[in-house]
This record gives sequence, structure tokens and C-alpha cells, in this order.
Amino acid sequence: MGNCNKIILIGFMGTGKSSVAEALSEAMQIPNIDVDKEIVAVDGRGIPEIFVQDGEAGFRMLETKVLKQLLQLPHPAIIATGGGAVLKQENRELMVANGLVIQLSASADVIISRVSNDRGRPLLQGDVAERVHTLLKTRANAYDFAHLTIDTSNQSISQIVNDIAKAWQNANPDRLEREI
Ligand code: S3P
Repeated sequence: MGNCNKIILIGFMGTGKSSVAEALSEAMQIPNIDVDKEIVAVDGRGIPEIFVQDGEAGFRMLETKVLKQLLQLPHPAIIATGGGAVLKQENRELMVANGLVIQLSASADVIISRVSNDRGRPLLQGDVAERVHTLLKTRANAYDFAHLTIDTSNQSISQIVNDIAKAWQNANPDRLEREI
């Protein structure tokens, strides 16, 4: 059993995990750690390079290793995961054992407009709209193990941050009272 002091953001690419994690970190004064950034920091290669050289399977192995290490940190943290981190049962079990899991979601059109200008996602190479629709179908329900789901399509970041902070407070009233 983990130490349950993490806020873990999951969700498809372009649902706002990184932006929300940054704003949440600022508002709650809890450090924010991005799994993809940590993978790049420890491995030394960029994500597209890892996919080209080691394939998606190689990337997923690194992802699980880093996710596990981050979730075992003794201090509270906001952990923003990559969109595919939910695909392994092992990862899902690690997440629910170590904190509050929040799914961010968004409509396909919003996702497509958010990811269109960013070419750093290996799984969205080629026809971005087609790739997003296909992957959304493949991953239908993959994020549903979360404790809470927030649709970010039409909400401001500060509204989303408030909702997550409230959920955290309800999940951890004792811990929050001690830490404030
Ligand atoms: C992936 C999502 C990416 C990154 C990698 C694979 C996925 O992260 O981990 O390109 O499988 O959905 P973001 O969700 O932050 O874009």
C-alpha cells in the first residue's frame, strides 16, 4: 500500500494535464512532477527519439519505471502522467494505491485543436484528427478508473483547480488540517 499523498492527473493527450498540474501546484503549494519530463531527464533522449529507437514498448517500460519511482516519493506531489500511462494494469494499480486519481477529459474537437500545433507526440504523426479519433476509440473507458473526472473543454483552469482542491480536501481532511 502506498502513502496516498499524491494527486495524479490522467487523461488523453491534449486534455490539459500539464497546464492544470502547473496551476494546481501554484495554488496548493505542492510540487508538480511531469512523468514525461522526468523520463526525458533520466534517459537523456526526447520522447520521439525513444519511440523511434526503442519502440512504444521501450517507452512504456521507461514510463512504468519512472511512474513507480515518482509515486514512491515520500512527500506530497502532483503527478501529471502521459496519456498512455493508464494502459498497463500495473500502472493503474500503482496510481490508485498512491493517491487521488483525477481524469481530465475533453471533446475530440477540443483535443484536436489543442494538439494540432505540437509535433512532439509520436502517436499523432500524420493525420492528427484521424489519429485522435482512432486512439480515442481504442482507449474508450481506459481512464474510467479515476476517482473523479473533469471535462476541461469549456472550463477555465482556475475552475478546474478549485474542483480538484475541493476533492483533495474531501479525500484527505486529516492530512490537510495538519499541513496547513
Ligand atoms: C502518449 C502521450 C504523451 C506521451 C507519449 C505517449 C500516449 O503524453 O507520454 O507521446 O500514449 O497517449 P501527453 O498525454 O502529455 O501528450
